[in-house]
Amino acid sequence: MNAALKSLLPAPSLDADRLALLARLTQGLAPADLYWIAAYSAATAARLPTHAELTVVAQAPAGTSNDPAQRLTIVHGSQTGNSRRLAEQLSASAEAAGLPVRLLRAGAYPLRELAQERHLLVVISSQGDGEPPDDAIGFCEFLLGKRAPKLHQLKFAVLGLGDSSYPKYCAVSRALDARLAELGGRRLVGLGEADVDFEEAASAWSARALDTARQALGESATGAQPGRTLHAVNEAPVRPLHGRASPFAAAVLENQRIVSRDCEREVRHIELSLEGSGLRYEAGDAVGVWPRNPAQLVEQWLAVLKLDGASEVEHDGRRQPLARWLSENRELTRLTRPLVVAQAEAGGHDELRRVLAPGEQAAFSDLLATHQPLDLLRRFPAHWEAAALVAALRPLTPRLYSIASSPALVGSDEVHLTVSVVEYTAHGSAHLGAASAFLAAAGDDTPVPIFIEPNERFRLPTDGSHDVIMIGPGTGVAPFRAFVQERQAIGASGRNWLFFGNRHSRHDFLYQVEWQEALRSGALDRLDLAFSRDTGGRTYVQQRLREHGREVYAWLRDGAHVYVCGDAAHMARDVHEVLLEIAATHGQLPPDEAKAWLAELLQQGRYARDVY
Ligand SMILES: Cc1cc2nc3c(=O)[nH]c(=O)nc-3n(C[C@H](O)[C@H](O)[C@H](O)COP(=O)(O)OP(=O)(O)OC[C@H]3O[C@@H](n4cnc5c(N)ncnc54)[C@H](O)[C@@H]3O)c2cc1C
Ligand SMILES: Cc1cc2nc3c(=O)[nH]c(=O)nc-3n(C[C@H](O)[C@H](O)[C@H](O)COP(=O)(O)O)c2cc1C
Repeated sequence: MNAALKSLLPAPSLDADRLALLARLTQGLAPADLYWIAAYSAATAARLPTHAELTVVAQAPAGTSNDPAQRLTIVHGSQTGNSRRLAEQLSASAEAAGLPVRLLRAGAYPLRELAQERHLLVVISSQGDGEPPDDAIGFCEFLLGKRAPKLHQLKFAVLGLGDSSYPKYCAVSRALDARLAELGGRRLVGLGEADVDFEEAASAWSARALDTARQALGESATGAQPGRTLHAVNEAPVRPLHGRASPFAAAVLENQRIVSRDCEREVRHIELSLEGSGLRYEAGDAVGVWPRNPAQLVEQWLAVLKLDGASEVEHDGRRQPLARWLSENRELTRLTRPLVVAQAEAGGHDELRRVLAPGEQAAFSDLLATHQPLDLLRRFPAHWEAAALVAALRPLTPRLYSIASSPALVGSDEVHLTVSVVEYTAHGSAHLGAASAFLAAAGDDTPVPIFIEPNERFRLPTDGSHDVIMIGPGTGVAPFRAFVQERQAIGASGRNWLFFGNRHSRHDFLYQVEWQEALRSGALDRLDLAFSRDTGGRTYVQQRLREHGREVYAWLRDGAHVYVCGDAAHMARDVHEVLLEIAATHGQLPPDEAKAWLAELLQQGRYARDVY
């Protein structure tokens, strides 16, 4: 909104999040649409019965009490949407049970209100090496730091999401739970921990947490309806037609290799139809894909375990042939701690038991990195009955892919992905990744079950005049294709600078022609490239960033947003270090201030990462 217009309006009572949402909603709309929204809002306001109620609505979301003693606050810290989704379900269940509830992402939680908080539920995942999700860094630092207030009035409960194959399993939730108790809070229920197949554990924890929260809030809580049954968490919300649990079968419009024939790794550009799905997305979101395991892999499993794929297996109230369990419902390509434990016990393998011991983390991580489950079954044989196998294997989980298209440019009925196909040889045989191989083979006869995973933290600036710096080597470039398309479609005036890298310019310069055209048309202002194997010495995007540090710092100082997408283990860490270095070198900031500067950018949403 321009400054002159802003000065004509009274100060808004909307919070910063809602203002940002409004700005995004209205950005680029034609005057007729803006007038329609104004009329719609006026009509909605006119239907509200009294001025008093209008005031309450303006201060807090409908149904939310402003008295901390009378409300339940649910905070979620999420990187890939699981904790967010669970918190939303929890909130819907709380509302259905008549509890006044406010639901907040950790990044939007007003820290100054923590001291007054009375009933708090936190759902949070662990990322990186036991680190908080980006959106929750400020929340965790405050709570774990010296400035955290005493919380003797607080009743709380924490649910942690994690992956027990990581050395620091649920480290963030463990730390928060301990700290909240240390600050004087009393647990409503004990710390919940949910592994990758989190649904069951999370659902049980949520039901218990909600039950005790309801008791704690007392039947006097505004809107509470005595005697009303508490809904089970996974029953309550009314969701859109298609979501994670009810994916849309998307037709494949295009599925094309976009690296040269000589390239050692296959990368594909895939276009899927959303027509008739009701699904909507924004640049920055991801698509969730429910894969089907490769048919030849299922056959290999059956052969190695000498099991009959046609034999019927009943599990969790469902009865179907073993081959179908393995193809559609069980994780066959990702090795996990519970499976290593089960295999060690089933086969009585001491060597495996040793690797699982607490002091053997490096050997265990190495085992996970170098073996798919079938490699383990071959190397450490064990006898499995079909039903026990289905019970021991983890349910198949969807994979996420950053969206590589903007609905503003390609229309909202299609969505594009950039997929690197996991395909390699190990232990003397060919190995595939479940989802990338499934996507690579998808065509006219094989619709892809998908849902949209929103990513509110990874958004273009609402004010299109801000510059953006995008760092996306490899398939990390996908969301930046969406960003550049979006900025072009809405006529954003800010500059766009892309850092891209891969191995060879001749083989895997993804979307080369599009970037060159974008440079010509002005949709892209700068493109800096790093092809690691074109020259003797390895060059990566982080080096390019360092080389252009002075300008990068100037762009950021003048309000630019910086985005990083792709490899979490190396690239994103290095880029983070280089940004600190740039602040020190070109902003003359001492190390502590450089860190605070970058943390502030992250907090403001001007530094956003989508890494995996
Ligand atoms: C937010 C987000 C966005 C993402 N965006 C994209 C994207 O835009 N494009 C994209 O391609 N991916 C993206 N990913 C990654 C994607 O979700 C999948 O993880 C990836 O495609 C692999 O899944 P898969 O099912 O094919 O392999 P899986 O079946 O999950 O894994 C195969 C197994 O093989 C192992 N493995 C793989 N390679 C080797 C090797 N060379 N040697 C030994 N073992 C190996 C792995 O450790 C794994 O255990 C994203 C992930 C996230 C979280
Ligand atoms: C890059 C990456 C790093 C992770 N690191 C950890 C970790 O250190 N400890 C852990 O328990 N889980 C770890 N996980 C697992 C996540 O916590 C788990 O997938 C969780 O369900 C994600 O929830 P979210 O979508 O709310 O972020 C990691 C996952 C990813 C993708």
